[in-house]
Amino acid sequence: MNQDTILVLDLGGTENSVIARMIRLMGVYSEICPHDISSKDLANMPHVKGLIFSGGQNRLIDGVPAMPDESVLSADIPKLAIGCEDMPEMNVRIIDEGVVRHFVFDKCRCIANWNMKSFVEEQIRLIREQVGSEKVLLALSGGVDSSVVAALLIRAIGKNLTCIHVNHGLLRKGEPEEVIRVFKDELGANLIYVDAVDRFLDKLAGVEDPEQKRKIIGTEFIRVFEEEAAKLEGIRYLAQGTIYPDIVESGTKTAKAIKAHHNVGGLPEDLKFELVEPVKFLYKDEVRACGIELGLPESMVYRQPFPGPGLGVRCLGAITRERLEAVRESDAILREEFFKAGLEGKVWQYFTAIPDFKSVGVRDHARSFEYPVIIRAVNTIDAMTASVAALDWHILETITFRIINEVKGVNRVVYDLTPKPTGTIEWE
Ligand code: XMP
Repeated sequence: MNQDTILVLDLGGTENSVIARMIRLMGVYSEICPHDISSKDLANMPHVKGLIFSGGQNRLIDGVPAMPDESVLSADIPKLAIGCEDMPEMNVRIIDEGVVRHFVFDKCRCIANWNMKSFVEEQIRLIREQVGSEKVLLALSGGVDSSVVAALLIRAIGKNLTCIHVNHGLLRKGEPEEVIRVFKDELGANLIYVDAVDRFLDKLAGVEDPEQKRKIIGTEFIRVFEEEAAKLEGIRYLAQGTIYPDIVESGTKTAKAIKAHHNVGGLPEDLKFELVEPVKFLYKDEVRACGIELGLPESMVYRQPFPGPGLGVRCLGAITRERLEAVRESDAILREEFFKAGLEGKVWQYFTAIPDFKSVGVRDHARSFEYPVIIRAVNTIDAMTASVAALDWHILETITFRIINEVKGVNRVVYDLTPKPTGTIEWE
């Protein structure tokens, strides 16, 4: 980044991201890097104005506390150590905003000029520098990350970006239309829309096991993408919506690897393209702010998380077209009522699922035998644990009445009261 930067050296700190984000909120760019960078590395980063050593519970490597490189310790640059009792440097035990602010502005003399406007300008310059007049390909799912990457690349290289939007039939109601409206009609993107609905549903027919379903959806997605990419000529780059937590959580030497992250859409590494990853240094909320800066609609930028396999894991058991439509329609009703009630953005994730069994009911004075729909609405910080949203009774009633009256084949609605654990957020 071509701006005043504070590097957070990861000496096993668990709060590296808290520190980096705190500094970014002060308007100064900050990045986390491995603990053992050398002064040579620093010489290649002329914008670095200060170093913060972030120690903590993961500091021991083979029983020995991780230490910065000697050449870095003796480098003539302001340093602050947090949670590293044994350091020669100014050391504080816990993160204190006042201390960090004093360090960033008084010791390192940083200028607070990092914001989304400057980020967008800088990325446009960097993208043009990286790809020149070559062509770039992007799998545009309509999710926040790939949408922001698309908008950035359209600004930077216009028609030299080709977006492929694969409709696998497992998207929410109105999603493919929204992608086409925003990117093709409004932003003028070079967008290839692939209707692969029958192909995916044929492959999934009769498959009950959730992991098998995920595998089929992932593999088929790659096949469709590769086939479409093979039809194009002269593409050298592949753009991806990798974001900063994907990189940080995948682990530096001292960071505890939380999970191995896969590329967006699970694209394989042996696709013969060079990567363009313009938001890889942004946290999720910054990606959203970047989307707003680029003029994307709020409904796209602030949308709730949606799993890659989509409605495929909400149409429980073997997917049928009938139940898939029922889950899509009931989900649309749920989202509409949440929007009307002002709950959008207040509940972390909310959706419906449909099981693969029917229950007895009564409709028009006669026995009915139809599917139930499950409502799930949860709040969480990191999706590792979750609590059930305490929804207003009246809202639940309105949603229920609408679903049993408007969704074909559904005669019953239940509200899932299970926290995670023991339930997961999704049912499959
Ligand atoms: P669970 O069900 O594991 O969900 O409690 C945690 C979060 O992850 C999402 N999720 C997925 N996302 N591919 C994804 O991209 C998947 O296969 C998948 N399964 C669950 C889920 O929606 C929730 O936000």
